Amino acid sequence: MINSLDFVKVTEGAAIAASRWMGRGERNIADGAAVERMRERLGEMNISGRIVIGEGERDEAPMLYIGEQLGRGGYEVDIAVDPIEGTNLVANGLPNSIAVLAVADRGGLLHAPDSYMKKLAVGAKAAAHVDLDASVKDNLNAVARALEKKIDEVCVVILDRPRHKELIDEVRTAGARIRLISDGDVDSCIATAIPSTGIHVAMGIGGAPEGVLAAVAIKCLGGNFMGRLMPRNQEEADRAKAMGFGDLNRVLQLKDLVKGDALFCATGITDGDLVHGVRFFDGHAQTHSILVHSGGTVRFVESTHRLVPR
Ligand code: FBP
Repeated sequence: MINSLDFVKVTEGAAIAASRWMGRGERNIADGAAVERMRERLGEMNISGRIVIGEGERDEAPMLYIGEQLGRGGYEVDIAVDPIEGTNLVANGLPNSIAVLAVADRGGLLHAPDSYMKKLAVGAKAAAHVDLDASVKDNLNAVARALEKKIDEVCVVILDRPRHKELIDEVRTAGARIRLISDGDVDSCIATAIPSTGIHVAMGIGGAPEGVLAAVAIKCLGGNFMGRLMPRNQEEADRAKAMGFGDLNRVLQLKDLVKGDALFCATGITDGDLVHGVRFFDGHAQTHSILVHSGGTVRFVESTHRLVPR
């Protein structure tokens, strides 16, 4: 059974490294710093870890590539990472960037190709009442009924992209409220499963690897997430097929995305709906993280780290 607080140290380290680049317009440098720290910390853990969602294929990413083995040995786990979820958010000092990882027993995480995914996420009360193939209006009315809210009290988060014009029109016609975000749909999907965020639904097309990360968190928190792969071109479709996705049109349910024992952990880089961002003071850094386990434990962890003089 995996339930180690040590995983928080991994996202804490990545968040601190990334946050030094907040607002400095250097998304690649920020990402590189977070990747390096995350890899270093995973390498120090007593696990036999295998990266299944990471920075890319071995030939394109030197660190945290798909298939990389990390750890000093021990329990066999599969790991999905996103050292910075929202690289543009960090580069521009905008809210809701997080350092993220998900861990499951070997074989427990869907190996999602680097492609798009159509997503639908809701919290526990609405979990049984939505369907990726239902109309936007039907889904939103079902959520409103399940939450005992009026439709204009329901808040939907959507990535602000031209591809979502029709979706945005449909949500507006249904009468629900919208929060458009510039990036970071892992954060918004998870927020649907935490009632205090005031976010009830996340909809639209975003990264498929990010979909798996969000699904792990939602499985642990209670709620529902479903998705469908949306390859952007023939090459992506061929690659998905080569990875074993027979029917690309199939709706991937939560149980297809994550199986068995799992945990999810995220540390804020910039302030956000789920967690605060990193704060530096008096030679220390303060971090705020969420760690959730499929056993049902939800932890918010606030840590103060003494910084080694650089
Ligand atoms: P990065 O951190 O890799 O830049 O991803 C940010 C993100 O906004 C994800 O949250 C989202 O799933 C994806 O990019 C959307 O992709 P696109 O920017 O191509 O619409």
